[in-house]
Amino acid sequence: MCGIVGYIGNQKASPILINGLIRLEYRGYDSAGISTIEKNSLSIMKDKGRVKNLYQLEGIDSLTGTVGIAHTRWATHGKPSQENAHPHMDNSKTFSVVHNGIIENYHELRKFLIDHGYTFYSQTDTEIIPNLVHYYYSKDTVSDDLKFLRAFQHACSDFKGSYGIEIICKDYPDQMIVTRKDSPLVIGKGEEENYVSSDIPAILSFTRNFYLLNDFEYAVLSRNAISFYDQELQSIAKEVKHIEWNASSAEKDGYEDFMLKEIYEQPTAIRETIGAKFSESSHCVFDELPFTKEYLATLNRIYIIACGTAMHAGLAGKNTFEKLCKISTEVDVASEFRYRNPLVDEKTLCIFISQSGETADTIAALKLCKEKGAKTLAISNVIGSSITREADYSIYTHAGPEIAVASTKAYTSQVMLITILAIYFAEILECNQNVITPLKKEIMELPKKIEETLTLAKSIQDFSKKIYQEKDMFFLGRGIDETVAKEASLKLKEISYIHSESYPAGELKHGPIALIENDMTVISIITEPNLVEKMISNIQEVITRGAKTLVITNQEIDANLFDRMIKIPETSPFLSPILSIIPLQLLSYYISKEKGLDVDKPRNLAKSVTVE
Ligand code: M6R
Repeated sequence: MCGIVGYIGNQKASPILINGLIRLEYRGYDSAGISTIEKNSLSIMKDKGRVKNLYQLEGIDSLTGTVGIAHTRWATHGKPSQENAHPHMDNSKTFSVVHNGIIENYHELRKFLIDHGYTFYSQTDTEIIPNLVHYYYSKDTVSDDLKFLRAFQHACSDFKGSYGIEIICKDYPDQMIVTRKDSPLVIGKGEEENYVSSDIPAILSFTRNFYLLNDFEYAVLSRNAISFYDQELQSIAKEVKHIEWNASSAEKDGYEDFMLKEIYEQPTAIRETIGAKFSESSHCVFDELPFTKEYLATLNRIYIIACGTAMHAGLAGKNTFEKLCKISTEVDVASEFRYRNPLVDEKTLCIFISQSGETADTIAALKLCKEKGAKTLAISNVIGSSITREADYSIYTHAGPEIAVASTKAYTSQVMLITILAIYFAEILECNQNVITPLKKEIMELPKKIEETLTLAKSIQDFSKKIYQEKDMFFLGRGIDETVAKEASLKLKEISYIHSESYPAGELKHGPIALIENDMTVISIITEPNLVEKMISNIQEVITRGAKTLVITNQEIDANLFDRMIKIPETSPFLSPILSIIPLQLLSYYISKEKGLDVDKPRNLAKSVTVE
């Protein structure tokens, strides 16, 4: 969590930094701050709350420095407040630091520094960083070009935990140094100016040329050069990567919110994700994957590990791998999987899904599976993200940058990609050819069907006006529809703050039906042809107890049975999660708008969860 930006060049740094912070606000919005080098002294301006509080601060316009660092915070250690906001300086005001991550041994380091005469003014773990750097800096008697870097590296070697750090020093006014461990950080290369950011979209309007830093590496940025060093401060070479995303993909482009824009981008995201991986008459191709029939045939199971929405995409993957490839597949939440001593060995294929590729628990689970000898495959939306650098193999969704905290186009693209992956496996294993040919045809038609589904927006918006004041809702489904119910319920909770439960419809009468009250809204998804009758019976049970019912279906069902029925286009049951979630994404969006909430930045959340 937290977003960091840095700039070194010939322009005034503060507007560039604030621009970057606005784009990174989805990573946390408890406080924001910037620090620039102003005539050989360091300035800091920071405040509690959103970035807009920062740029309204008196005096911010008078900053003229051309080197600076900035931060938007998702609070971990220390409540959201002005004094806990980043940047933090050391006692002598020589160093200024922003940090994304957690220094786990900060208690110990803080005590060490207090014993050596340092004073702390915040409750954060971060404040130890500039002070420890100062401690080593003041002990170094050699004054040369590398003294600042040496002191920083010395301090970092004491840290346990995760960090993406930017540091500037008043004695080195033409430098900025950055490093990372288990926290994202990219370096943008410009013309006589360079940038740092937690992610690519935040600085995409300035450059499309990026360097990726590995754990424990350092970059020293000046206006005209960037030098890289390994953990031991040996100089290393890095290749610049050119990113194809265009700058407008990180803009709202006339939409009121990123979430709405991203919902409407789903036809394109799915088209791009399908790409040229197959045609109706040719087998699927994943050039980056080495899997053979022998390897797949000896697998004892596939594990799919992820968090939140990405985990829900994994549930759709389980259904497809088991039905299409006949490989037993388990799905687990990364934060649970890690601690259950999972049954993983060299005959297990472990697939990790992460839009950002930076989710701490998912990365830790991946490392565990590697230790246990399993092959690891990452599915991510971000090229070069941490997860893709850790995994044995990586494949990408091509959803474009997803900025809204609530995931929409990433989810449908993940379901799409994992479905194509399952087809690829089934083709290698030579099973279910009769199912695969019509499924491929359906995949090609899917973007058009998504467009058709999006035309339901107006009627969904009207319906949202009737239910936005509810306190509780239920989402029901059976089979694959139950996985969509889970995702719909998560979406509603996170952006509308309405409590909701998702349940397998047949399980309701084993307890939760006691919660059904007069006028409560129950939303059901019915796309599995063989489960239609069963679903209708379950819905009758809640109608009898006074519930209002909304049904999302692609089946021929009598609409009069429910208060409201929304018909979506028919497709293969393997693909139905991609269509049936869309009206429910829209419903959550419009409920949130009706309640006047900040759709893109729901309270307490951050887009990338880079702490465990
Ligand atoms: O970047 P990731 O896909 O690893 O993120 C996983 C979850 O944090 C994420 O899907 C989260 O649940 C979304 N906010 C849901 O909309």
